[in-house]
Amino acid sequence: MKSLYLRIVITTIFVMILSFIISFVGSNLYYQHLLKPYNDQKITAMAKSISTFYGQNPELDPESYFSHVGELGYQMYLVQAPEQGSFYGAPFRETELSDEVVQSVIRGEEYHGVSKFTTGPFVTGFFDNALINTVGVPLQAAGQDYALFVRPNVGVLFGELRIFFAVLVVLSVLLSILFVVISTRYIVDPIVKLTEATKMLAQGKYGIRLEVKRRDEIGKLAGTFMQMAKSLQQLDQMRQEFVSNVSHEIQSPLASIQGFSHTLQSANLTEEQKKRYLAIIESESRRMSQLGKQLLMLASLDKEESILDKRMFDVSDQIRQVMFMLEWSWREKELAVELDLPPACIAGDDKLLQQVWINLATNSIKYTEPGGTISIRLRQTEAECRVDIEDTGIGIAESDLPYIFNRFYRADRARDRKEGSSGLGLAITHKIVDLHHGRIEAVSELGKGTTFRITLPSPLTKH
Ligand SMILES: Nc1ncnc2c1ncn2[C@@H]1O[C@H](COP(=O)(O)OP(=O)(O)O)[C@@H](O)[C@H]1O
Ligand SMILES: [Mg+2]
Repeated sequence: MKSLYLRIVITTIFVMILSFIISFVGSNLYYQHLLKPYNDQKITAMAKSISTFYGQNPELDPESYFSHVGELGYQMYLVQAPEQGSFYGAPFRETELSDEVVQSVIRGEEYHGVSKFTTGPFVTGFFDNALINTVGVPLQAAGQDYALFVRPNVGVLFGELRIFFAVLVVLSVLLSILFVVISTRYIVDPIVKLTEATKMLAQGKYGIRLEVKRRDEIGKLAGTFMQMAKSLQQLDQMRQEFVSNVSHEIQSPLASIQGFSHTLQSANLTEEQKKRYLAIIESESRRMSQLGKQLLMLASLDKEESILDKRMFDVSDQIRQVMFMLEWSWREKELAVELDLPPACIAGDDKLLQQVWINLATNSIKYTEPGGTISIRLRQTEAECRVDIEDTGIGIAESDLPYIFNRFYRADRARDRKEGSSGLGLAITHKIVDLHHGRIEAVSELGKGTTFRITLPSPLTKH
C-alpha cells in the first residue's frame, strides 16, 4: 500500500466487512438457539388455529377455505394418506416429506419441522421454502383424520420488510465507504502538510505556518513542530551571530597588528615609538591567542561527551590559591580582599572549577575601581556549597544583567576592548557550573557593586 490515505481507507473497509461477517454469524447463532424454538411455537399455534377452525366448521368447502388461508400468507399441505394430499397457497420448492412423518401426524402427533430444520448455522433456513420446513398438526373433519402442514409464506409476509432491510444494508455500506473516503482526507491532510513543512525546514526555511487549532495528537504534533522550527531558527541565528562575532574578534586585533607592523617598516621611528608599537603588537597577539584558547575551551565544553574528571577536593583551598595567584593584580589596583572560607569538600572537576574562580575574580578585579573591596564567602550545607563573590565595583546595568552570560556579551564594548576582554569568560563559567549541575546568579547595582553566587551540589559524603 502506497499512501497512508489508501491504508486507512482499506483498513476501515476491511474492518467494516469483518464486523459485518461477525455480526451476521452472531445474529444467526442467536436465531438458531433462541428465536427458532419460539418461531416454531408461533407457527404451531397458527397451524392449530387453522386446523381447529376447520374442524369446528365442517360445512366449509375445504378447497375454498384453504385457498383463502393460503392467500392470507400461508403455504399448506393437507394430506389424508401418504402421497395423497393437496397443496394450498404458494407452491413449495421442495415437496419431499417422509411417509413416516405424514402418518405420525395423521395419527395425532405434532411435527416440528421448523425447529428441527437445519441448514448449518445460518438463518437462511428460516427462508427455506421446503415441505420439511413446516409444522404439522392433525386435523379432523367429517370423522376423517388428516395431517395439515403449515409454514408462513415468507414472501408475502415479509416481502417489503426484506427489501427494506436490503436497501438499508446496501445504503449504509455504500454511504460508509463514501464517508470513509472523504473523512480520511481530513485525517491525512495535516500529515501531508506536516511533511511539506519538514521539507521546508530541511531547506532552512523557518517561517512555517501550521494549523495548530486541532486538539488531537496531530494538532499537538503540529504545535511541537512549530516550536522545534522556532528553536532551530534561534539556534541558526545564534550560530550565525557566533561566527560573525568570532570573525570580528579576530579581525580587529589582526588589523591593528597589520597596521603597526606596516608603520614599523616604513616610517622613521624613534626607539621609544618602536618599542611602544611592538608592545601593542605583542599584546594584540596575546589577546588573539587568549581568544583562541577560550573558544577551544567552549567547544570542548559544548561537546556532550565532555565528561567531567571528578574528584573530591577542598574548594576553600582552591579559591585561596586563586586569590594568591592573582595577588599582584589586586594589589596593583589597591583593592582590599576579604576571604571567609571555611573548609568545604565537594566532588567536581578541579581544573574546570579553578577556571570559574579565576574568571569571576578577574572580573571583580577588572571592574572595581582602586580602593574597592572584593569579598569571597563560602557556606556549605548538607545539600549544597555556596560561594558569593562580591565586589564594590562599577556594577552592571539592569538592562545588561540578563545577557552577561551570553557569548561575546560585554556591557561596555568600547571600554572592554581596551581592557583586552572577549566577553567569553562568563559564558565559560556558566557552562562549567551547568556541567556540575550547579547554579550561577548575578545581583548587581550600577555604581555600587556586583555579587555572583555559585551554588554547587554537596557530595553525599563529607570529610
Ligand atoms: N564583577 C563585575 N562587575 C561589573 N561588570 C561585570 C562583572 N563581571 C562581568 N561583568 C560584565 O559582564 C560582561 C561579561 O563578562 P565576561 O564574560 O567575563 O567577559 P569579559 O570579562 O571578557 O569582558 C563584562 O564585559 C562586563 O560588562
Ligand atoms: Mg571576564
